[in-house]
Amino acid sequence: MQKLKIGILISGRGSNMHSIIRACKQPNFPVEVAVVICNRPDAKGVQIAKDEAVNIVVVDHKNFADRPAFEAEMHHHLIENGVELVCHAGFMRILTEAFVTTWLGKQINIHPSLLPSFKGMHMHERVLKAGVKITGCTVHYITLELDSGPIIAQTAVPVLSDDDVASLSGRVFEAEHQLYPHVLRMIAEKSCYLDGDIVRHKNDLVAEPSLYSPTLHTY
Ligand code: GRF
Repeated sequence: MQKLKIGILISGRGSNMHSIIRACKQPNFPVEVAVVICNRPDAKGVQIAKDEAVNIVVVDHKNFADRPAFEAEMHHHLIENGVELVCHAGFMRILTEAFVTTWLGKQINIHPSLLPSFKGMHMHERVLKAGVKITGCTVHYITLELDSGPIIAQTAVPVLSDDDVASLSGRVFEAEHQLYPHVLRMIAEKSCYLDGDIVRHKNDLVAEPSLYSPTLHTY
């Protein structure tokens, strides 16, 4: 099986990276991690990648004169490792227009809200403050505008009355760790494709047509 070669960009804890690595270790998973790039030498994710014996490179942004120089080094490692798809997993650097354009349609991100709602930072705080009853996570293509590229897939997660940021983010994390490998499989198997600004799925039947929050009682 010809596997899709991905590069994972991280800055921190690396739990999404870990879920992807674990999926890629399944024999029939059509994706392989060609390289992990981390911009912080002390990030927890660096040790996880090493423990998982994955090819990891630290590209510390502080060692570069400017953003283009930092990105040129990342680009070099991505190309050198034959990366076909760049996957952001908690990567906390803003990209230049040149880098975004170079990898357009080949660079994706996971965001812990149901985009286009709650773009940016501190989304769980804002979700709780807004009182919404359903949130979730989104995997989308990266475009020039932050958290605004074509949506590939989403998971809906209920918000409960006694939630705080820790409980809510924990529930969303569980969904993130399922969704990201699922999306990678769909991209590798070409079961979804970009149609202008919209991602279409060749087979997008759903098991549950609706999620009620709070739970629906039948009458
Ligand atoms: C995740 O919530 C992800 O959605 C967001 O940053 C967080 C990264 O967490 N973009 P981790 O490093 O994968 O644990």
